[in-house]
Amino acid sequence: MDLPRTIPELRSMKAQGVKIAALTAYDAGFAAAMEEAGLDLVLVGDSLGMVVQGHATTLPVTLDQMVYHTSCVRRGLKRAVLVADLPFMSYAAPGPALESAARLVREAGAQMVKLEGGRKRLEVVRALTEQDIPVCAHLGLLPQAVHRLGGYGVQGRDQAAARILLEEAQLLQAAGAELLVLECVPAALAREVTAALHIPTIGIGAGPHCDGQVLVSYDMLGITPGKRPRFSKNFLETAGDIRAAFRQFVQEVRAGRFPGPEHSY
Ligand code: KIV
Repeated sequence: MDLPRTIPELRSMKAQGVKIAALTAYDAGFAAAMEEAGLDLVLVGDSLGMVVQGHATTLPVTLDQMVYHTSCVRRGLKRAVLVADLPFMSYAAPGPALESAARLVREAGAQMVKLEGGRKRLEVVRALTEQDIPVCAHLGLLPQAVHRLGGYGVQGRDQAAARILLEEAQLLQAAGAELLVLECVPAALAREVTAALHIPTIGIGAGPHCDGQVLVSYDMLGITPGKRPRFSKNFLETAGDIRAAFRQFVQEVRAGRFPGPEHSY
């Protein structure tokens, strides 16, 4: 039997140049199918609010809902690392962040929590890592900041914004973050950030040079209504069934075939 993947193992994958394959899941059935397909990491994203609950943003998702869905996914997984999003306003200060993260770890079985933002999150990242709660940071497009950003566009396009993002990535690593999601940033910037960090980067709309890739499962299965984002790809179309689509995603990420230039900025 395969041993469970660990967070240090994800770091070794970066060191060895083995690409990390990750998808989002919200229930035990999908999680088990991802497990079988050989995913390294499964994220219970607060994209839950959009793809499962039908909201226009991730903002309405509550901590109780994240705990519930993470515990469902936990029951479907054996080997993949389980990461859960801290939802909007559940980590505005170190005290609440510790309580929220403890629920995701203790009640739901998450191995790592993810939070959005750079410089202003450093104190929270330090507080969590000092209590041995591993943190995945998230830079670039921050869906929880949609009202401030004014939409879901590509971030870090100009030199000043790119410099700030690179600095924030280094600060988050120094504060103890063990993984970094880069969402919707130019491929050249993601390459620079990935080369500058010893922790793995996981891209979504961040080009092929990240240490791993993550997609929202509903997008890569073509379930999400409306226009598919440029950075995603419908794997179900060619694979034919859901398990094969997950397997194909893992193979294409490992081989560096996904994402292609047509999925990158
Ligand atoms: O909530 C989510 O699904 C995410 C991914 C887009 C990385 O944060």
